[in-house]
Amino acid sequence: MAAWHNVVIIGGGGAGLRAAIAIAEANPKLNVAIVSKVYPMRSHTVSAEGGAAAVAGRDDADDSFDEHAYDTVSGSDWLCDQDAVEAFVVEARRELLQLEHWGCPWSRRPDGRIAVRAFGGMKKKRTWFAADKTGFHLLHTLFQTALSYSDIVRYDEWFVTKLLVHDGRVRGVVAVELATGATETIVADAVIVCTGGCGRVFPFTTNANIKTGDGMALAYQAGAPLKDMEFVQYHPTGLPFTGILITEAARAEGGWLLNKDGYRYLQDYDLGSPTDQPTMRSMELGPRDRLSQAFVHEMEKGRTIEHEAGHVVHLDLRHLGKELIDSRLPFVRELCASYQNIDPVSELVPVRPVVHYMMGGIHTDINGATPLTGLYAAGEVACVSINGANRLGSNSLPELLVFGARAGKAAAEFVSDVPGAATGPVLAQGRDEERRLHRELAGRHGSGGERLADIRTEMQDAMEAGAGIYRDEASLIKAIDKVAELKERFARAAIDDTSRTFNTELIAMLELSGMLDVAECIVASALRREESRGAHQRTDFPGRNDEKYLAHSLIRRTPAGESRVDYLPVTITRWPPGERVYGR
Ligand code: FUM
Repeated sequence: MAAWHNVVIIGGGGAGLRAAIAIAEANPKLNVAIVSKVYPMRSHTVSAEGGAAAVAGRDDADDSFDEHAYDTVSGSDWLCDQDAVEAFVVEARRELLQLEHWGCPWSRRPDGRIAVRAFGGMKKKRTWFAADKTGFHLLHTLFQTALSYSDIVRYDEWFVTKLLVHDGRVRGVVAVELATGATETIVADAVIVCTGGCGRVFPFTTNANIKTGDGMALAYQAGAPLKDMEFVQYHPTGLPFTGILITEAARAEGGWLLNKDGYRYLQDYDLGSPTDQPTMRSMELGPRDRLSQAFVHEMEKGRTIEHEAGHVVHLDLRHLGKELIDSRLPFVRELCASYQNIDPVSELVPVRPVVHYMMGGIHTDINGATPLTGLYAAGEVACVSINGANRLGSNSLPELLVFGARAGKAAAEFVSDVPGAATGPVLAQGRDEERRLHRELAGRHGSGGERLADIRTEMQDAMEAGAGIYRDEASLIKAIDKVAELKERFARAAIDDTSRTFNTELIAMLELSGMLDVAECIVASALRREESRGAHQRTDFPGRNDEKYLAHSLIRRTPAGESRVDYLPVTITRWPPGERVYGR
């Protein structure tokens, strides 16, 4: 079967919905499809907690676009593109106000103005929030707005297996419907990838099971480069068994991190404070990379707490009191009760660093366009880049709004301008891919093959050991070798379920195939970058090396099927590279 749409968006989370709305607003004649492997309200955006950063309002004289931009640039360890950041900070406020008009219930100050809270690495209070369920409310708002456009059609619970590229231009996708196993070639004039990050490549992550890097793998396999893949963010506070996020908002509201002696250990670490001043200054609201690194040092000094699920420190919220916790952090209380059987009103919360966000992703320009004609990307799957080597907490929600909208507008303009092209060769390619999927289903059945779960677990463990908070040449080479071995074994992997109906094993197999490519890109890019910057800490190259590496890595697949890393200079507009400094 074949279908046709002007634009196909892969992924129904925040970026995908925002892009769809932007297209519908730009040109109501365009026919837009959202193809999502989960129902949109189950996208991972729903689990964002702490908030969205933007200069709050004209009356907030205490803050400015320049300050938001500077915090973002220095937080990124100068690896972001400053033209993108300058556009981002201005449009972030516009987008958050737009959400207000679409019905997002932002928390308010007593006088009715939007409430803002502090967040790590942001020197001013500029994080808008809806209690600690910001992602849930933001996604709801976008979803209900998208529903009002009848030209946005949805393929819910469809998994995209391939981007169709003809004559150097992306012309559609092939997807499989989970409920029936039916495959379909969907022809399009442009495709926008909005599938989120790839935290599941690691064993311990805040990311939902669905975040398997599908879009990064699709783009890479189609010949588009991935940018800055070595930069993997650890969030300092995840629950020990599940990795569930305990939002940074808990620290923004005044929570402390304590080691096994009940001591606020962050005062002993240089989190980037001026060297002539005590490092007490940023403490729990330091940037995520530095806080996660401090945890590792505490563990090495024997000052963490041994827990059944590994080493932890304690997050102490008890002094905040029940009233504040219930009004500002109700979800934190709920998560602690449900998953840890503790009440943060009276008990300490065990936490540890956990993979949270991918700074790298599909290389795009400031409008979400990739070097592959007709292919766009936005949200965590993309690397514009505003995050560089370390994203500041609460910049990702506005990022997916700003660049989701930009990618939508750019794709709408592109499809309105380009002449249509013959669909014959695209349909033929689609049929080939559909036949491949049918062969996979039949040919993988049987006992004695490699188990998907074994390969996945070994990949995750290799990534944590080789490319975790600290890496070096030896650990990365070991991880590279392991991923290569796993790719070979994957070719022999078997599946037991050959049915068509909700064949989740088939989907797991397709996901794992992509995850192995993404894992390879992370470790190969990390090996090439011989310096330490932000979330990429090489113990064998401890300093930042601007002379050689003030540049984005770009990894692409060569025609021979190998990966190649090149570098692209970062764009500096107004803030020359300097020291990362955090004050109170
Ligand atoms: O801690 C948090 O609420 C996470 C926010 C973010 O990643 O932006």
